[in-house]
Amino acid sequence: MSNHPIQPQPERRRFLRFGAALGGFLTGCKTSRVEEPAEPSSLGKPLSEHGARSPFEKTGRLPGPGKNPEIGSSKTPLQDCYGILTPASLHFERHHSGVPHIDPAAHKLLLHGLVDRPLMLTMADIHRLPAVSRIHFIECSGNSRSEWGPKTAPDAQKAHGLVSCSEWTGVPLSIVLAEAGVKAGASWIVAEGADACHMQRSIPLKKALDDALLVFGQNGEAIRPEQGYPLRLLIPGWEGNTSVKWVRRIKLVDQPSMTKDETSKYTDLMADGTARQFTFEMDAKSVITFPSGGQKLAGPGFCEISGLAWSGRGRIERVEISTDGGRTWVNAALDEPRLRIAFTRFRLPWKWEGQEVILQSRCTDETGYVQPSREALLEARGANSDYHNNCITAWKISPGGGVTNV
Ligand code: CO
Repeated sequence: MSNHPIQPQPERRRFLRFGAALGGFLTGCKTSRVEEPAEPSSLGKPLSEHGARSPFEKTGRLPGPGKNPEIGSSKTPLQDCYGILTPASLHFERHHSGVPHIDPAAHKLLLHGLVDRPLMLTMADIHRLPAVSRIHFIECSGNSRSEWGPKTAPDAQKAHGLVSCSEWTGVPLSIVLAEAGVKAGASWIVAEGADACHMQRSIPLKKALDDALLVFGQNGEAIRPEQGYPLRLLIPGWEGNTSVKWVRRIKLVDQPSMTKDETSKYTDLMADGTARQFTFEMDAKSVITFPSGGQKLAGPGFCEISGLAWSGRGRIERVEISTDGGRTWVNAALDEPRLRIAFTRFRLPWKWEGQEVILQSRCTDETGYVQPSREALLEARGANSDYHNNCITAWKISPGGGVTNV
């Protein structure tokens, strides 16, 4: 258990201590006859070079409808993932011109612009530099856009699946920038990918020197082509689009480049018609993944409520859960490790009595920022908004056990 036990709060009695709750649940699984499990009747499959999941596991990414199969996004099945790491094969995708086929032996990274010594690095050069491994989520700023309403998406994957969390391995960008020598007057970098559209984003130099990484590893293996093989710029906690995949060029400049993806896209139209630009940080968000939309509870009884919380500004400090439409809240337990700018898994033992329930989660990050209600978010941002929706989601459990987004 974490060091965040369930706190005594007004509605505490509706939530259960683990032992009391589970004891009742397992009585339903008792059997009168004790039988030995069946013996295997034949040898299993032979050894293999590269593992694959069980054929019984069917969950997949959900590519959205698009005019071209190379352009668009696919979503992580958050409701089917365990712990805090997303399998690389299920990490969400957002591509602007398809996944390039890159031979790492031919890939190079150019560092130029306002530097003392322009550098052209091969992957072999990069692999010789001091590396770090860090667990971070990446979230598309278009994630949860359906939740602006009035119509919302039916399940956790369709509503919130443009976020995933991996252990990334790579070289701090600050090391490479020090090697190149940052010239006075440089204040931004422009990163460019090797995809067909040469995706570009401008990033303040301060962030580039702080915690940006040039990553080549993901969850213990080489980064997947869909995530930027062989090299991706990772900008922790900022909108996913800034973590430029297949990165091939970083230019130091004295002002942002005003690229397509920071002007016509990835800006936030406010109620008064002006647009917010360079809204980089992903605000704290939480989603209950069980029970969640599209699932069905077989019947009343014990049910561990579980989900994921994350913040682009640091650690998750608290996740509260309400089972009465937001009238009262109790603290969920937070799994360790509880890392900066990473998924935090939360859990709460609960007993469903079979009645209609509105289930919500609300997180607070280490800066004290509290995830807003949909009403509060609309109040702050207006009805023109599209990106950066982090509002509280509500799942309704109907008396029949079905779960829907409300
Ligand atoms: Co933004």
